[in-house]
Amino acid sequence: MSGDDARDELLALARKAAENAYAPYSRFPVGAALRFADGGVVSAANVENASYGLSLCAETLAVAKALAQGRRGGLVAVAVAGSGARPVTPCGRCRQVISELAALDHADPLVWCADGESVLELRLSQLLPHAFGPGDLPGDPDEA
Ligand code: THU
Repeated sequence: MSGDDARDELLALARKAAENAYAPYSRFPVGAALRFADGGVVSAANVENASYGLSLCAETLAVAKALAQGRRGGLVAVAVAGSGARPVTPCGRCRQVISELAALDHADPLVWCADGESVLELRLSQLLPHAFGPGDLPGDPDEA
């Protein structure tokens, strides 16, 4: 599969996930899809709450799902899709949350950010340089 095909396929899964967004307050559905080295994909959409600050972004939920399924690394690419006028780049919290999963095997995944048409391609390290992660804490994160 070409790089463009891999990108388009993951973005299509992110867009599909966005169809299940629960975003009655912002009316801004977002979908995220994570690609793993074994070919697996984990996707999610944003889930809002009447107590606005409790809302969860699509990327954060996708990472939480992946960890809850037992994944501990292997993240090769992330796709984020919104429907606004500009590609949706992960918020600061999501960058840190994605970074936790990526850091487990020192990965620097591609992050594809899309709106309806255009796509921005970045590395996670560009979105979150000098990241703080599990390796910065005392103790062996592999034991967690
Ligand atoms: N949102 C995401 O799900 N991911 C992002 O990268 C940016 C923002 C959600 C949070 C909230 O539900 C809505 O978009 C508007 O901010």
